[in-house]
Amino acid sequence: MPASKATKDRAASAPQPDALSVDPAILYFGTPVVLIGTENEDGTPNLAPMSSAWWLGWGCMLGLNASSKTSENLRRSGECVLNLPSADLVGSVDRIAMTTGSNPVPRNKIAMGFRYVADKFGLAQLTPVPAEAIRAPRAIECPVQMEAVVENISDFGAKNPRIRTRLMAVELRIVRVHAHPEIMMKSDSDRIDPDKWRPLIMSFREFYGLGGKIHHSTLAEFPESRFRPPVKPYETPSSG
Ligand SMILES: Cc1cc2nc3c(=O)[nH]c(=O)nc-3n(C[C@H](O)[C@H](O)[C@H](O)COP(=O)(O)O)c2cc1C
Repeated sequence: MPASKATKDRAASAPQPDALSVDPAILYFGTPVVLIGTENEDGTPNLAPMSSAWWLGWGCMLGLNASSKTSENLRRSGECVLNLPSADLVGSVDRIAMTTGSNPVPRNKIAMGFRYVADKFGLAQLTPVPAEAIRAPRAIECPVQMEAVVENISDFGAKNPRIRTRLMAVELRIVRVHAHPEIMMKSDSDRIDPDKWRPLIMSFREFYGLGGKIHHSTLAEFPESRFRPPVKPYETPSSG
């Protein structure tokens, strides 16, 4: 659609900010940290930090290195728990940052200084507890724990010459959500209160929290209850 006269006038009169053409090595602009709980082939729990994650309705997309233990476990078991640490759990996340549940450590990770750790829950000082609908572990200290089953796994970036590692995109269906009562709204025990939920954010490999709310949101005027799915989580086909 052609720009309106008002838009053209504004473009002509407003001071233009500089925007250089730049070439960053990475494009990690800032997303919440997730601690993925998966079950290893011998039944022990694995826990791995990741942050290439986003949610749509009761679905989630993950971007994962195809060689991680988590990816192997997801392909085999088809299940995981997305544990969301709050900003005050940053020490737990950082303690397991340079570790893998893969033994031996993949060659590319040896070069980066990663080491094998069998008990990453222990190293993180977090507690594995059983999920309700699946076998993957929850981390009870995380204020949000989402049980999920794999819907689809596909290659990511296979044709992109600027992506050098084997990556995969994992589509998940969320089947249960657990949350600490402290982050729920007083007026509605099914609604997470964004004034109380303090996610840990990874931006360009550094840790951040959120500041407070900065503006009224016109989008949020539409009632949250209108997004509620027509079926209950326990009525989903996989939950048995
Ligand atoms: C805060 C943080 C965020 C990360 N984000 C991702 C990510 O989005 N995708 C990914 O594949 N690896 C990510 N990593 C690296 C994984 O944690 C790393 O590959 C780890 O070895 C995986 O553990 P696993 O081999 O036991 O599954 C991240 C690491 C940290 C500390």
